[in-house]
Amino acid sequence: MITIQYLKNYEEMSRYVATLVSIRIQSGEPFNIGTPTGGTPVGMYKELVAKNLNWNKVHTFNLDEYVNIDHQHPQSYHNFMWENLHKYVDTNIHFPHVEYDTEIGAAGGLDLTILGIGTNGHIAFNEPGSEFGSTTRVVNLSQQTIVDNSRFFDSIDQVPTQAITMGLHTIMKSRQVLLIAQGQKKLDILKKALWEKVTTEIPASILQFHPNLRVFYCD
Ligand code: GLP
Repeated sequence: MITIQYLKNYEEMSRYVATLVSIRIQSGEPFNIGTPTGGTPVGMYKELVAKNLNWNKVHTFNLDEYVNIDHQHPQSYHNFMWENLHKYVDTNIHFPHVEYDTEIGAAGGLDLTILGIGTNGHIAFNEPGSEFGSTTRVVNLSQQTIVDNSRFFDSIDQVPTQAITMGLHTIMKSRQVLLIAQGQKKLDILKKALWEKVTTEIPASILQFHPNLRVFYCD
């Protein structure tokens, strides 16, 4: 059974995961990392930035981005990454597009991917019903996700209804996956995804088949 590693609080979880990532960056080896957005990874990015690492050999591959959003928009994932990481470190930046899987493959594949989880079990923007064999593509966001993410926008009708996302297959090919989640509202879906039936209705459940997965949770 997959173990969920409980951390004392958000700071502790952020620090722990940032340390795991920084060890890889400090090794000086080329390092391809799948990078998440959302509220959960903000603390981890802060910790990483504070470490003043050399990111020259790192390639960041973002998991997803909204469709039909200006990259300058405060809630675009381009802007999120700029504000939380890219403006502080000199790294090689990649965002999803139709040939993303080819680009990732040509770069040597993902060494490590960090994921959050949506309250409906989505990872990146792979909503319930996503095929396990899916690769990078444009998807419709579920009503649940639109409601959840509306907290970042002035009103719900400003939330984009589509996104481009790495697929489940893209994520599963990553050599290592770290899943991070915070808060009681995520605990139910986390347990369901990791400890119950593997089903496309809970996209994160595919991670049960990943050979190198670590899961971190804090209240
Ligand atoms: C967003 C992102 C996901 C993220 C999830 C949880 O919609 N597309 O990559 O993991 O939802 O976000 P949060 O950490 O804000 O709860």
